[in-house]
Amino acid sequence: MRSLIDIKDLTTEEIDNLIKRAIDIINHKEQYAHVCDGKKIATLFYEPSTRTRLSFTSAMLELGGTVIGFSDASSSSVAKGESVADTCKTVSNFADIIAMRHPKDGSALSGSFATDIPLINAGDGVHCHPTQTLTDLLTIYREKGRLDNLTIGMCGDLKYGRTVHSLTMAMSRYKNIKLVLISPEELRMPSHVIHDIIKKHKMPYKEVTTLEGNLKDLDILYMTRIQRERFFDPKEYERLKDSYILTVDKLKEAKSDMCILHPLPRVNEIETAVDKDPRAAYFRQTLNGKYIRMALILQLLEWAKQKAKRDYYYDGTKARYDLVCKNPRCISSIEQGHKHIFVPTSKKGIWKCVYCEMEVDLRKKNQNKKRA
Ligand code: CP
Repeated sequence: MRSLIDIKDLTTEEIDNLIKRAIDIINHKEQYAHVCDGKKIATLFYEPSTRTRLSFTSAMLELGGTVIGFSDASSSSVAKGESVADTCKTVSNFADIIAMRHPKDGSALSGSFATDIPLINAGDGVHCHPTQTLTDLLTIYREKGRLDNLTIGMCGDLKYGRTVHSLTMAMSRYKNIKLVLISPEELRMPSHVIHDIIKKHKMPYKEVTTLEGNLKDLDILYMTRIQRERFFDPKEYERLKDSYILTVDKLKEAKSDMCILHPLPRVNEIETAVDKDPRAAYFRQTLNGKYIRMALILQLLEWAKQKAKRDYYYDGTKARYDLVCKNPRCISSIEQGHKHIFVPTSKKGIWKCVYCEMEVDLRKKNQNKKRA
């Protein structure tokens, strides 16, 4: 069964086809009004959401289907300690497709293993948010008319920001993409994104700490929120929360056709006066989220009908099951009953957890053994 856990689950051709279909939906809404008659989506939201949950709801209703689910896990049997896997297995009896948001990394993959209906990851901890990435790609395409030959600035929380990790991954597929990574030292893009995506795909990039002086070459500025909920230490959040505030004044150095994106919600990082600037595309981006999710629901239901299969992240023959994930945010280390699955990476001796993708360096263990 094909689900969407990570943007990596889709080929570039499949992404381009989803964008094409979303544009067709925008242009021929009436032709899609009954294509999901009789179908149900279950929206399982264990974490707050406005755009993602309501755009999935709106998407399914506009396709003719209906919606069940919860937006507050405390009103479900999760409050009694039910696991993600058991919840998803149960819900698969009542719906044709699931969209789930959960605070733990790897929860979407865990849920998808338990169901025989497609599951869409609507955000799993700090890991991935692939439908936001599809929304971003549709928006870039509609705003700029292309997905290649772009200089993209990403600003804010690049460490915990799952949207910028997934967007970087997605943009690495397109030609001549340059990146300007704007963050405080403490919230820099993680080294695995720099090494495994940016350097691997030879994407020119620079890391800087200020917005000022770094806007003039950008075609896209992707602002992100410093996310309170990702910090273990509240004092650290207070210290960093206002690192960047995009103002009308700062935008004077930007190109007249630069496009400003933000996955939203914003807190303080874009002053509201910027909203009137035609370059501010973030509310148009929200609307695009509904159209791309309509295209995605249709595609996953079609694949379910064809019984299309896809192997996620690992080839069972190469996996090992004797390691335990040390990531305190990973579902496999939090909920019982998970088979721990690690797969080799392209770096010799480095393996990664299939749920959260945290790497473990087995060379160090071997070195220690040799020394002892
Ligand atoms: N962009 C996004 O995921 O917004 P919500 O948290 O409101 O769903």
